[in-house]
Amino acid sequence: MYKILITHELPGNYINDMKNKIDADILFYDGRKNIRQWLIENIKDADGILITLNDRIDEEIIDNASKLRVISTYSVGYDHIDVNYAKSKSIAVTNTPEVLTDATADLIFGIMMAVSRRIVEGNEIIKNNQWASEWNPYYMLGTEIHGKTLGIIGMGRIGRAILKRAEGFDMETIYYSKHKHDVNINYVDLNYLLKNSDFVIIALDLNNETYHFMDYDKIKLMKSDAYLINGTRGKIINERDLIKALNEKIIKGAALDVFENEPLDPDNPLIKMKNVVLTPHLGSATLETRSKMAEVAVKNLLNVLSGEEPLYKV
Ligand code: DGY
Repeated sequence: MYKILITHELPGNYINDMKNKIDADILFYDGRKNIRQWLIENIKDADGILITLNDRIDEEIIDNASKLRVISTYSVGYDHIDVNYAKSKSIAVTNTPEVLTDATADLIFGIMMAVSRRIVEGNEIIKNNQWASEWNPYYMLGTEIHGKTLGIIGMGRIGRAILKRAEGFDMETIYYSKHKHDVNINYVDLNYLLKNSDFVIIALDLNNETYHFMDYDKIKLMKSDAYLINGTRGKIINERDLIKALNEKIIKGAALDVFENEPLDPDNPLIKMKNVVLTPHLGSATLETRSKMAEVAVKNLLNVLSGEEPLYKV
């Protein structure tokens, strides 16, 4: 009989169904102690774990596991897992790409529109009963999306999905990535992209090379009326540098779904900035997508335990 640890309940019935598919003792995190402590104590004889991006799986946790064969993360990102160390112990690491690409691209596009057309600001004005003036030609003017230049940094699945949406909005699109991709838009160098884009969207994975990729010097190359948008991982932007740049009006605004530290510290200066739209890591947060992610994460785990290839292996 296998032992499987699951740190969070997931949408859909996939975990329940698992019980019919494998002879396993399935243990859920019971919320009684610190989740890390619970993992350390219970992972000793576990065969598989199903975790989320909140659960950091490092050497200490892996060293506590004597039988572990699979770490299935309910996320596309795997920067919370020491993948190399897991691999050195022959533990498979699996993730849930593809099923969340469109939902994430929708959200990224949504926050870009929200910041440039001041949608959130407008909503707050009405809800706070501050809509005092009549319709006025100069009232709350924003920045157009259509016809503007969108610079996409990174051209993986999410970059491509953003590109598709941008084409529908008649945007001029350019991209920068470490390697040239087979897409029908201009591949440019990073400086060119930063200097010429009205909107810069980060569509990179977080890894050692992309940590703090977007720093003050790079933001300084952007146009003063440009916006910076990020919905992949917060640590790709040096948040302190971004705050400095926004304070100095080096760029016009930003829209962020991800942060260096989540949840965001209530004292974070970004919160008070009117030209910044913030959402709490909602990229994949639709019932449809989160259910598909559960299906993939469960299948990945079961496949590894039954000796088959998982759907997605990191
Ligand atoms: C992921 O899966 O890595 C996403 O950040 C969740 O939305």
